[in-house]
Amino acid sequence: MSVLIGDIAPDFTAQTTEGEIRFHDYIDGSWAVLFSHPKNYTPVCTTELGYTAKLKPEFEKRGVKVLGLSVDKIEDHTGWARDIEETQGSALNFPLIADDGTVARLYDMIHPKADDTLTVRSVFVVGPDKKIKLKIEYPASTGRNFDEILRVIDSLQLTAKHQVATPVNWQNGEDVIIVPAVSNEQAKEKYPGGWNELKPYLRIVPQPRD
Ligand code: BEZ
Repeated sequence: MSVLIGDIAPDFTAQTTEGEIRFHDYIDGSWAVLFSHPKNYTPVCTTELGYTAKLKPEFEKRGVKVLGLSVDKIEDHTGWARDIEETQGSALNFPLIADDGTVARLYDMIHPKADDTLTVRSVFVVGPDKKIKLKIEYPASTGRNFDEILRVIDSLQLTAKHQVATPVNWQNGEDVIIVPAVSNEQAKEKYPGGWNELKPYLRIVPQPRD
């Protein structure tokens, strides 16, 4: 069964490069990113893991815990981690699951018509309520854009806190949209300075600051 946005992220216990992790305990009231890699010692994955390690301060700033997955043995993860550090200039600084396929299947990360053993490049963002907030899938041959993942997390966190949505190509700091569920009366309380109403359903306000 597919894991869909709004579902509780299925829980699991797995061996990782930082010891055994139970996913729900790992989330522990934070945001989390769970992302899969088709295979160890492959070029695209090596670049992705190095870049994600470099972004650790950005994830921490947003209260996000990162958890990678590759269907390979823990000994192979350790050797690969050395290559990641050597070639990408940053050491793995978050846990990488040594999956036997159990977690990959639980999250539908294997798409048999693409490959019946390797995962695709899945990304799940999970909220502090343990619900799936975002799901992205790329084919194995296309490296993901982790700056985009940070951008989406910024949008998700703004929505959670301020009931705003973010328009096309939005970047952190730019104007946002008052969600339709907020009436004009409620909006007046939240935005006493008013908003730019292009249409009754398209109300633009500066990005709320905390
Ligand atoms: C890679 O990570 O480079 C890769 C993995 C599987 C298929 C194609 C590329």
